[in-house]
Amino acid sequence: MKLIHIVGARPQFIKLAPLCRLLKDFNSLIVHTGQHYDYMMNKIFFDQLEIPSPAYNLGVGSASHGQQTGLMLSLAEEALLKEKPDLVIVYGDTNSTLAGALAASKLHIPVAHIEAGLRSYNKKMPEEINRVLTDQVSSILFCPTEQAALNLKKEGFHSIYYHGKLANKFLLSNLPKEPPLVINVGDIMYDALLASLKLAQETSHILEKLQLISPDKTLSPYAVCTIHRQENTENVHTLTSILQGLLRIAETGIRLIFPVHPRTSPIIKNLDIDLSPLVLVEPLSYFDMLLLESKAKIIITDSGGMQKEAFLLNVPCITLRNETEWPETIRMNMNYLVEALPDAIVRGYKKMTQKPSFAAVKPFGEGKTAGLILEVLRKFYEI
Ligand code: UD1
Repeated sequence: MKLIHIVGARPQFIKLAPLCRLLKDFNSLIVHTGQHYDYMMNKIFFDQLEIPSPAYNLGVGSASHGQQTGLMLSLAEEALLKEKPDLVIVYGDTNSTLAGALAASKLHIPVAHIEAGLRSYNKKMPEEINRVLTDQVSSILFCPTEQAALNLKKEGFHSIYYHGKLANKFLLSNLPKEPPLVINVGDIMYDALLASLKLAQETSHILEKLQLISPDKTLSPYAVCTIHRQENTENVHTLTSILQGLLRIAETGIRLIFPVHPRTSPIIKNLDIDLSPLVLVEPLSYFDMLLLESKAKIIITDSGGMQKEAFLLNVPCITLRNETEWPETIRMNMNYLVEALPDAIVRGYKKMTQKPSFAAVKPFGEGKTAGLILEVLRKFYEI
C-alpha cells in the first residue's frame, strides 16, 4: 500500500512527525505544498523532528486564498496522478489540507483526515471552511477528541466508532469496513509533545538566550504570546487593541516574549505604537517553543496548537478569540477566551494567573495517537 502525506504549513510538520516515525518501513512519501517556506517556518521542523525530506515541493508560497488553494490543487493533482497512491493523509485545517483532500478525492483516492471534526462554528475563519470541506470528502476521519467525533455525528456522519470514546488498540477488531469511518484516536500533537519535551529540555538554550534564567538558575516570570490569525491581523484596529492589552500586561513587570509570525511581522512594523516593552523575536523552533511554553507563567495566543500545548503542559492560557475548537480546555478552566480589547485582555490575564490550575482528566488521549492511526489503517485497508 502506498501512502502520501500532503502538508504545507508549520503545525502540519509537527503533526506529521510522530506518524512518519512509525511509517519508516512503509511505502510512504511526503508532498509539501510550499505554503510555508521560510527556514524558521519550515525546514527547521523537518531537521529537528527528523522528518524525511519531501519527495515533492510544489513551491506554491503565499497568495490570496483562492490563488493559493487553486495552485496547490492543480499541482497536487499532478503529483498524485504520477504517484498513484492508495491513500492520502492530510492534517489539520489549512489551505494545504483542503487542497490535498480535494485533489485526492476527485481522483477517487481515499483521504484520511488527521484532526477531523474540530469546529469553531465561525465560517468567517478560513480554517473552519477548510475543516468542514475536508471532512466531507474524507474516508477516515481521525478525531483528536470525543467532542470532535460528536460534532461529526451532528453533521450526519453515522459510523462513529465506539460512540466517539477514545479508541483502544484491543477494541479495533470490530472496525466497520465501509467509509466514512469516524474514530477518536486522540491528538497527535500530544505524541509530538511527549517525544520532544525531554529533548527540548536537554538541547534548547532559549531561556539563557532571552535572559529569562540567571546563572544560579532562577527563572524570571514571563508570558509567551503569539498572534497570527487572519481575524486578528487583517484589521489594524483589532491588532492595535491586542497590542495595547499586551503592553498593559508588560507594565505589571512580567516579561512578554512574542515570537512574531511572518504574517504579523510586516503589519506591526507599520503601526505607530511603541512595542519596546515587549520582547519581539523571530519565529522559534519547536524545541525552543516547547521549552519556553513549559516554563511560562501564562500563554497568550490565537493559535489552536498552543492552546492545547498550554493545557498539556499545565500552563494557563488566554485565547485571543471569540470561540475555540478546543472547548475542553475552557471547560477545565485551563483556557479563557478574551475579546480583542485591552481591558478584556488584562482581565483575562489577572483571572488566569490568580490561582494555579490543573486539569485532572485527559481529553486529548494518551499520547499514543500515531500507533492507533497505524493500527486503524492496517485493519481498514488490511495492510
Ligand atoms: C496558516 C494557516 C493557519 C495556521 C498557520 C500556522 C491557512 C488558511 N492558514 O496561516 O491555519 O494556523 O498557517 O502558521 O492555511 N509567510 C512568510 N513566510 C512563510 C509563511 C508565510 O513570510 O514561510 C507570510 C506571507 O506573507 C503570507 C502570510 O505569512 O502571505 C500568511 O501565510 P499563510 O500561509 O497564507 O497563512 P498563515 O497566516 O501562516
